[in-house]
Amino acid sequence: MPTKILEPPAAVQHKQLAAWVDKMAALCKPDRVYWCNGSQEEYDRLCDDMVESGTLIKLNPDLRPGSFLARSHPSDVARVEDRTFICSVKQDDAGPTNNWMAPDKMKAILTPKFDGSMRGRTMYVIPFSMGPIGSDISQIGVELTDSPYVVVNMRIMTRMGDAVLKALGTNGTFIPCLHSVGMPLAPDQDDVPWPCSPDPKNKYIVHFPEERTIWSYGSGYGGNALLGKKCLALRIASIVAREQGWLAEHMLIMGVKEPSGEKTYVAAAFPSACGKTNFAMLVPPKAFREEGWEVLTVGDDIAWLKPGTDGRLYAINPEAGFFGVAPGTNEQTNPNAMATIKKNTIFTNVALTDDGDIWWEGMDGEPPQHAIDWQGNDWTPDSDKKAAHPNSRFTAPMSQCPSADPAYEDASGVPISAFIFGGRRTTTVPLVTQAFNWAFGVYAAATMGSEMTAAAFGQLGQVRRDPFAMLPFCGHHMGEYFSHWLNISRRFDMLPPIFNVNWFRRDAEGKFLWPGFGENMRVLKWIVDRVHGRAKASEGPLGWAPRYEDFDWRGLKFSKRRFAELMRVVRDDWVAEIASHDELFFRLYDKLPPEFPSIRDLLMATLWREPRDADSGHG
Ligand code: OXD
Ligand code: MN
Repeated sequence: MPTKILEPPAAVQHKQLAAWVDKMAALCKPDRVYWCNGSQEEYDRLCDDMVESGTLIKLNPDLRPGSFLARSHPSDVARVEDRTFICSVKQDDAGPTNNWMAPDKMKAILTPKFDGSMRGRTMYVIPFSMGPIGSDISQIGVELTDSPYVVVNMRIMTRMGDAVLKALGTNGTFIPCLHSVGMPLAPDQDDVPWPCSPDPKNKYIVHFPEERTIWSYGSGYGGNALLGKKCLALRIASIVAREQGWLAEHMLIMGVKEPSGEKTYVAAAFPSACGKTNFAMLVPPKAFREEGWEVLTVGDDIAWLKPGTDGRLYAINPEAGFFGVAPGTNEQTNPNAMATIKKNTIFTNVALTDDGDIWWEGMDGEPPQHAIDWQGNDWTPDSDKKAAHPNSRFTAPMSQCPSADPAYEDASGVPISAFIFGGRRTTTVPLVTQAFNWAFGVYAAATMGSEMTAAAFGQLGQVRRDPFAMLPFCGHHMGEYFSHWLNISRRFDMLPPIFNVNWFRRDAEGKFLWPGFGENMRVLKWIVDRVHGRAKASEGPLGWAPRYEDFDWRGLKFSKRRFAELMRVVRDDWVAEIASHDELFFRLYDKLPPEFPSIRDLLMATLWREPRDADSGHG
């Protein structure tokens, strides 16, 4: 059957784009090609069609207006790191932390898979902008997909449609992203609610760095399929950023507003499933709120940072929505997220309640007496299975977030005054420290570790080194990535100080030592005060550390003893910790910055020094 073009490409002024779409349509052989315009009407129509086809369930409009639930195939519930490839021409450019295959070999595998992969389906053309349209930090991509679920999610997560085509003009640069769920339909074959390739070995998330192209096959879920997010905004962008002298990072961006009205912006990196969305939308404790402290959200997952003409570093959030982990989100842990998802939200793999609303483990109140679990089966509180998948998600627009900073639409970005790095560590790592200088901070970020998450493989509780929280997202050699971080400091005059945090330390009984969530404001305030030279600190082995009296404790009973336990640097633990850095370093040895072994030795030496108090200032 010849492919039918639903919107004549005459509407597209960009010859190279039109030619690429034609070429990919000839390969994938969809029944139809549809150019998305990004309108509300188009979004509503696609959602209605998906309700009809069984892909989406419309939620009760009185309880959750404009919202839908999707249930994925049980094989398609998370990013697939072992099926993610960086296909640079030279293996060495991908480095030892990425899966690699030569580009021609990968194309020889994938081309036959894409050949006819969209039969019986529509190929949607999604022009999208990562970042505000027109910002010189933004990048345009075009995703071709046979998944209408991807289209509606991309409309929330990016700026997409006609306005982007217009910005592309006749010869603008774009990143081609090809996506197929990998389940063509034979002429009389019925579709399934969540088409994908169920065989895990038949999923491929592939990046071609030299061509700046992304091919994704076999999965319809999250970062595997919404190609603007991890594939473009992190893996490809990290390659472009290194070449062009900027940073593409797995970081949230938040503004801390003081009673005086002054805003201080920070960017923070945490590995997946460490509560980045909660931190980005933090609600300060009552005493702080009453005084006028506020946290403003610019982004919860990705930051693109470029040196500005004033010598400072400016950040944009390339995304326009949240693709947040649902379980554990509630009015206590994240009231702003709960408000954001009240309407116009797509939920994936959460439970459906009998009154047509959604539920997940860790939501407020009593669990429902009955629900339908993420796999479509009856569920009661006595069930031994989870009602919502642990990696179930909500996709919701940034504009609905009560803490959203209007500056997220600002084409020039927000000036970053501090970096924060944190992992999930039960032991060893104190609540907060400030690195002595840029190189020490880069070293600490490079060696940060975290205990296992849903998307990662390994044993629960085992520490995985996740440098800069970028291990699954750095599109080039991690050793070169470290050097890029060391070198970029020369491009700006005002170096943001670097802080390390750990919200997850536990006591001997296994209980969390720190309450976390809104109380993290106390750490944030100390950080902001350090940035402005207002807070004191003591000089510890890992960097500058707050003393008990340097924190604002209003409204929280927290003993000095507990704080000491939370901040303790145990020499034996750190000797083991530093020794284990070598495991990562040896893997990257050919391109490890020569500074790193010296910093490691200095760090080791300082473990034997007595702590000293210091004056306020950056140290
Ligand atoms: C995410 C992740 O989904 O980091 O943001 O896995
Ligand atoms: Mn992430």
